[in-house]
Formats: sequence, structure tokens, C-alpha cells
Amino acid sequence: MTSLPVIDIDPFGTEVLTDPYPLEHALLDAGPLAYLSAHDIYAVARYDAVYAALRNWQGFQSGAGVGLSNFRTEKPWRQLSIVVEADPPHHDAPRRVLANLLGPRAQRRLRAEWMAKAHKMVGQVLDGTPGGTIEFDAVTAIAEKFPPRAVGDALGLPEEGRENLLPFSDFLLNAFGPRNELVAAGAPHAKFLTTWVMEHCQRDALTEDGLGGQIWAAADRGEITHEQAPGVVRSLFAAGFNTTVHALAAVMHALVTHPEQWARLRAEPSLARIAFDEAVRWASPVQTFFRTAVGDVPVGDHVVPDGAKVLMFLGAANRDPRRWADPEKFDLSRDPSGHVGFGFGLHQCVGQNLARLEAECLITALAERVETLELAAPGERRLNNTLRAWHSIPVRARLA
Ligand code: HEM
Repeated sequence: MTSLPVIDIDPFGTEVLTDPYPLEHALLDAGPLAYLSAHDIYAVARYDAVYAALRNWQGFQSGAGVGLSNFRTEKPWRQLSIVVEADPPHHDAPRRVLANLLGPRAQRRLRAEWMAKAHKMVGQVLDGTPGGTIEFDAVTAIAEKFPPRAVGDALGLPEEGRENLLPFSDFLLNAFGPRNELVAAGAPHAKFLTTWVMEHCQRDALTEDGLGGQIWAAADRGEITHEQAPGVVRSLFAAGFNTTVHALAAVMHALVTHPEQWARLRAEPSLARIAFDEAVRWASPVQTFFRTAVGDVPVGDHVVPDGAKVLMFLGAANRDPRRWADPEKFDLSRDPSGHVGFGFGLHQCVGQNLARLEAECLITALAERVETLELAAPGERRLNNTLRAWHSIPVRARLA
């Protein structure tokens, strides 16, 4: 038996967050399991190993936290999610309520409204005459604007205070990593943001017919308890905004930097959903999540010992050459299904089809108006312990 590969690079260091690919390659080469000495944790990065870990909820629990902190041994210093950080049986009822609410019925109900919102937003950004050029920032003008508008309305939130949505989930997703300078930078606002979110998880802050109000109605029907309702609403605040913002930024970046794929998409706009999933595979806006071993769990020739934290590298799995031909290529001919950018198994993203709908609406609206796209200046990253995020992507568009 070979010894367990040990890697001493900090996966949450500035260098890796800026460019995760050298560490991902090292992990993919190392084998199915490695030990990351910087945080005394285990790592899975190969597609098969990540997929197996995501499916193995009995061996790799979420209930001790999906961040670095191990709440089996540490007193929680942050509030745990009653959805993503719960194991069966506690996970079952909240998940069922969300799956019902965010399923095909919601998509059919929201489709026309979100298409209209996307066309309106894109029309305001691309305010020019055919043949002319327009410069805009794909992050601040589009990606950061659309989810707070579309999902914020669907959730039943008031307009006031929506500027808190992205900083809240930015802090929360940073808090899944170590308490580094990214967490410290967000800490002064954390209390205010958390209080604002918890207030807006209450019934009287939400419209009755929105998703939030419907979660409370599910509590009235006994599908979850009234004590659970705010936590279920909160899971949408935590997971439903920044993730999609940076997935939309990723697909914009991919299309702007691959003009031949943009031309293809314009010729065949029904490729919008493929483009989005391929961008989620290619860029993995959610890079990593933790699990905690329950008992000694074998991975390849090695074992993750009971109670150890395991970091799953979704981004590396989505570019593992053992699973994907030409993984580094953003390619609309590919079938990206099976990527783990939305996770897999019991906790697989329950909002993924809403994210796809948002993307489809925006991409369709852009494809109608924009003939060519190019970078107007290099993009700038926003560093986050969990997200592969963008601060800015300056774009020049020639209007159709
Ligand atoms: C879970 C990614 C959009 C709500 C997850 C997980 C991932 C993910 C990787 C699995 C976490 C784990 O296994 O521990 C993404 C990405 C998105 C996105 C990349 C955008 C492209 C959304 C949206 C919503 C949402 C729009 C809600 C409207 C949730 C919830 C969970 C979850 C509630 C927890 C599910 C559970 O534990 O059963 N997401 N998400 N997500 N996501 Fe998403």
C-alpha cells in the first residue's frame, strides 16, 4: 500500500483562491485521497472520489458543518443551516418542502415573469442603436443585479434592504473556510446582516404568496414545524443569491472569452441551458464543501478516520481528465450533465432549476440584442473561501 500523499498548500490561501488550478492538478495527480497538512484535513478531488463522497451521506455527514469547523467537537460559533448542514432524518422534511416549492410548478409560474425581467434589464444596459457598441460591466450591471431582482421578488421580499443579500451570503460562504482575512473583513457587518436576514425570515416580512410565505404555509400544514420555518427561509438567503450571481458571471466570462461559442449560441439560442451548465462545470462557482467522517471511511487504498474533516473539490472533479475529454475547454458541443457543480445526492442543489431558468432568461435576452462580445479590460476576481467569484468583467458589445 502506498503512503497517503501529503500536500502542505493552504487551499484557502490567497494564491490558491486567485488561481486554484495548480493545487487542483496536484490533487488530481496525487490519487483518490490526500492529506492537507495546513488545516489537518483530508481532500478528495478526482471525479469518482468526489461523486462517491457526495453520495455517501452515511459515511460523510453534513450535520457537523459543511465548513472547516467541526461541530462534533467544537461549540458552533455560527448558526448552522437546518437544510444543508442537517443529516437525515432532520434534513428530510425541510428538503421536501423546498423541493416541492422550487420544482417544475414554480419554474412554469416564474418563466414568463423572469423572461420579461431579463429583457427589461438587458434593454436598459444595452441602450443603443443597432450596429453601435456599448460597454458595461457584466458583473455589476447584470450578474449581481438579476438574482436579487428575480429571486428577491419570488421569495416575497420588500425592495428595501436587498443590498444586504449579497454581503450576507458572501460572509456566510467565507465562513465555511478558516477564520482568515476574508472572514475578518466581513466580520464587522456580520451581526447587522444576520439580524436583517433573520428579521426577513419571519412571516410578517414576507408576502403571503411568495416562496417565503409558502414555506410558512407548509408549516401551517404540518409539513415542517413553525420553529423550522425561519431556518428553511434562511437557506434560500444563504444559497440562492451569490451562488447564482457568480454562476451568471462565469457564463458571461466564458461567452465573452469564446467568441466562436457566442456565435454558435446566437445561431442556436436553445443552447442557453447547455451554455450555463457547461460554465458551471468549467468554472465551478461553488468550489468546495466539507463533510465529516462517521466511522473510518475507506477512500481508494486509504482511510479517512472517524471525525476527520474532508474537503470535496468540486472544481477539480469538474475538470478531471479521467471523466471529461479536454476538460479545460469551454465547449457547447459537450454534454456537461453529471458535473458536480451543484453537488450530488441527498444535498444536491435544490434550487438548480431556478438558477438554470435565471440564466436561460438572461442569455436569451442578450443573444437577441448582441452580435459580438469581447473583453473591454481584464476581469477582476473577488476572493471568497468557497466561491470562485468575480468583482468585475468589463465587456464591449456590438449590438445586433
Ligand atoms: C445546495 C450550488 C443556486 C438553494 C447546493 C449545493 C451546491 C450548490 C454545490 C450542495 C451543498 C452540499 O452538498 O453540501 C449552487 C450553485 C448555484 C445554486 C452553483 C447557482 C448556479 C441555488 C439557488 C437556490 C439554491 C438559486 C435557491 C433558490 C440551495 C439549497 C441547498 C443547496 C437550499 C441545500 C440543499 C440540501 O442540503 O438539501 N447548492 N446552488 N441554490 N442550494 Fe444551491
